[in-house]
Amino acid sequence: MAKDTLKRSKRLITPALVFHTDIVVKKAGGLYVEGEDGKRYMDFTSGLATANVGHCPPEVIEAASAQMRKFIHSGCIFHYDSEVELAERLAGITPGSIEMFFFSNSGSEAVEGAIKLARHSTNRQGIIAFTGGFHGRTLGAVSLTTSAARYRRRYHPLLPSVFHSPYPYCYRCPMGQNVNTCSTDCFNYLERILKYQITPEEVACMVIEPVLGEGGYIAPPFEFMKRLKGLCKREGILLVADEVQTGFGRTGRWFASEHFDLKPDIITMAKGIASGFPLSAFGASKKIMSKWPPGAHGTTFGGNPVACAAACATIDKIKKENLLQNAVTIGAHAVSRLKEMQKKSSRIGDVRGLGLMIGVEFVKKDGQPDREGLIKVMRKCLAKGLVIVECGVDKNVARLMPPLTITRTEMDRALDILEEAVV
Ligand SMILES: Cc1ncc(COP(=O)(O)O)c(C=O)c1O
Repeated sequence: MAKDTLKRSKRLITPALVFHTDIVVKKAGGLYVEGEDGKRYMDFTSGLATANVGHCPPEVIEAASAQMRKFIHSGCIFHYDSEVELAERLAGITPGSIEMFFFSNSGSEAVEGAIKLARHSTNRQGIIAFTGGFHGRTLGAVSLTTSAARYRRRYHPLLPSVFHSPYPYCYRCPMGQNVNTCSTDCFNYLERILKYQITPEEVACMVIEPVLGEGGYIAPPFEFMKRLKGLCKREGILLVADEVQTGFGRTGRWFASEHFDLKPDIITMAKGIASGFPLSAFGASKKIMSKWPPGAHGTTFGGNPVACAAACATIDKIKKENLLQNAVTIGAHAVSRLKEMQKKSSRIGDVRGLGLMIGVEFVKKDGQPDREGLIKVMRKCLAKGLVIVECGVDKNVARLMPPLTITRTEMDRALDILEEAVV
């Protein structure tokens, strides 16, 4: 059976899509995915940081089913409660003065909308993004994406007036510095862009992931974010936080911006918002959003009533079960165990993480990225029922992003498997 699905999938689904495993799913629940092969897997990917409250949460299924029995699709013809309910909830949990929302279907689409809003509302064209960032695959979003050149290959020319400044990746500093010599040179580089390439008054927005996702699970220094905030405010540049991957409790806060006391002008979100129903959003203050006249942007499927009901139930579950705290506690426990592992194995170069967004960087003896080593580790883990995927430009960082519902016992079981594969 499984073989058949796999074979048919390989025949019918575009080869452009990279599937990380050959597992054919029979069913899933919480942390676990059951394959047609009869095996049960611990899904440490959460369907790419999406099933934040676990696979198929009963409360979400119930909310979506109830909505489906009432009304499935609006296409902006009718108003409906689940969308408004969701906007109210989001206004309550997003950082700063995010008050109004536009709902769409994917992370890329939210990024597209955010940059359109930034350009339109400021009447400026320039966009600054950060090297290593992943913002999506549509042409506008991929113009900002630089987590790997392969995502951009053969799609040039991309959106003009997009400039890239180095993201502060301190383990492999793009400016060749170390902790003792660092003077936030990457920020100085950004200032030079504004001196040599585009004047500040032409820049609509800076788009940044508060923690780099696809680019390697990297948190920037607080100082960098503080200076970035100050610069944007001074120059009237909108700060867009791309929280598509970091949102909905992933880092132990509702949004990772909170770790940096960042109050973005525009925030994008998707992935964990609705437990896997296709939904995304971007939000801004009423002042910014109101500059958009009717018809300046639109959607047919965005804000689907069923997806919105699923999102409301997802947010309620995170609150009710205190899952932000669980992410902090279990995440800290995991990081401390991984740091112990690092002491025993020179193959682990760096362990970093906020909440349950944890990166483990694999290196060779000379410190170079060890992609092959990580592949072997992931294979061994998979054979023992633990699914892990990688990130980073050299694909040598294991990213651990289990559901926020994970227990300490489950985390320990997974780390035992990982340890056995590494040490
Ligand atoms: C930070 C960030 N922005 C945007 C996207 C694009 O989201 P989607 O794949 O839903 O279009 C992703 C996807 O991984 C992401 O991590």
